[in-house]
This record gives sequence, structure tokens and C-alpha cells, in this order.
Amino acid sequence: MEVVIRPNAEAATDLVARVLARELRDNPRLVIGLATGRTMESVYARLVQMHREEGLDFSACHTFNLDEYVGLPGSHRNSYRHYMNHNLFLNVNVDLRNTHLPDGAAADIEAECEHYEKVITRCGGIDLQLLGIGLAGHLGFNEPVSSLRSRTRVKVLSPVTRIQNEPLFAPPDEMPRRAITMGVGTILDARRCLLLATGEDKAEIVARAIEGPVTSMISATALQFHPHCAVVLDEAAASRLQEADYYRWIFENEPQWQSYRNEIDAPSLDGHHVKSVRRKKEITPILDGA
Ligand code: GLP
Repeated sequence: MEVVIRPNAEAATDLVARVLARELRDNPRLVIGLATGRTMESVYARLVQMHREEGLDFSACHTFNLDEYVGLPGSHRNSYRHYMNHNLFLNVNVDLRNTHLPDGAAADIEAECEHYEKVITRCGGIDLQLLGIGLAGHLGFNEPVSSLRSRTRVKVLSPVTRIQNEPLFAPPDEMPRRAITMGVGTILDARRCLLLATGEDKAEIVARAIEGPVTSMISATALQFHPHCAVVLDEAAASRLQEADYYRWIFENEPQWQSYRNEIDAPSLDGHHVKSVRRKKEITPILDGA
């Protein structure tokens, strides 16, 4: 796992969007795993901006979202289909037929889950999976004690998740109690994972997910098994990490991040110089990155 700490939420979001954009430019047929939640809204806003200003092309890519509420049709304003359409899909040139979310209103939910896995496989698997993290430590809706080998299925939402997401529903008690979610095993099959977390309220769960022991109580700890996973944080979300100085050193020194450092430090077209924060304090690197 690689951990990258950026000075603030805007810089963290920008880096995640840049990583995704570069993969998409390198492979226009990229299969992208997408996430929802408040954190992702700014990533999608940045991608829309890149589409409009730099011609970032979504026309040949395929997307698969992590999850959807059971019982909500895509037309419902609180469905994740609605979220994705309005935050990203309708604002870029993606072919809507290539965008996939589980159908929360399917008559046979179990068959829908099996079908979702099959479509992912048919598309060649997910190349890059974007992830957020819930306060319950979940990826998608893999709530506490989700099997770390699970596949797409229905999960009952935990009390912590209900408290976190209910304010998005009006009235709050309209929030479904269950969701279809990719399993932890499904997520780990992605070729690359990219998790973004920002803000002080995520600091505790981020520290447990990255530096704590692997446990099904926190499904995000399973990312410790992934061979190609980056976690991008702002300083607030990184504030409880024991090895924060080490992670900062890696981003500022590892050759693989060099081109991103150059992009970030490059003067923008309007003449402003966006400077990445250089750490004066030198520490000794411990071992290789991931
Ligand atoms: C929902 C999604 C998760 C996401 C989480 C984070 O619960 N199912 O995939 O990680 O929201 O939400 P936020 O960014 O609002 O903290």
C-alpha cells in the first residue's frame, strides 16, 4: 500500500483526479470502478472540469459502481444512479450504456448480484477502482464482519452508516436499510485501487484501516492485501497516522510520483504557481514503497 498525504482536501482530490485522468488517457477503454459519497463529489467535479477544459475523453471507457440501495430505482433522487448521472455521467461524454450500477429495484436481487459480477468479468475486470471510506470503515457497503472474500451481494447497513448517510435522505427514515454492494473480494480483484479520504472526522478510521490489523470489522483493512493500492489523504485525515513523515517522504522522493510532482508544481495557464508543500525535515526511508 502507498499512502500519499497532500496539504488539503483540494490538493488530495486533484491528485486522485489526475491519476484517474492519466490512466484514462493511456487507455481510453479503461474499466473504471466508481464510488459515491460526499468526498467523491469534488473528484467528479474536477474530472468534469478536465473534460471541458482539456478534452478528457470518456467515450470508450466502461464504469462499474460499487453499490446501490435496495429498493431505489435509478430514477429516485437518492439512488446512486441518480448521483452518478448528475455528478459525472451527464457532464462528460461517457456512453451511458457503458455505465453500470447494480439495479436496486431488480425483482430478483440475488440474480442481479450474480449478473453484476458476470458483466464485470465480461468487460475484462476493473482496471482502476476508486474508493472512499465510510465512518464504519467500509468499502462500498461492506459493513463490519463482511467476509474479506465476499462477492457482490446484499448487505444490511450498520447503525454507523445509517447515521452517516441518513442526512442525505429527506425524510431521513426513507433511507433503505439494505444495499447491493460489490464484495471485498470483488474490490480486491481490481488491478489498481485508489482510495481518497479527507477531513478530520475520517482520521481515526483511516489510521485503523491503514496501520491497524486486518479485520473483517473494518473492510478497508483488506486493502493491505492489494498489490497496487494507493491511499490519498489530506493532512486532516492523515492526522492520526504513526508513519505520516515516512509517507510524506515517499511522495516527495519516489520516482513514480515525480511526474505528478512536476504537474502539480508547474505554473498553470493563468500564471499562478501551484506549489506542492516540500518538507524541510529529512527522514531516513525505511523500505521500498508498496
Ligand atoms: C457511502 C458509499 C461508500 C463511500 C462512503 C463515504 O457509504 N457507499 O462507498 O465510501 O459513502 O462517504 P462520504 O464521502 O460521504 O464520507
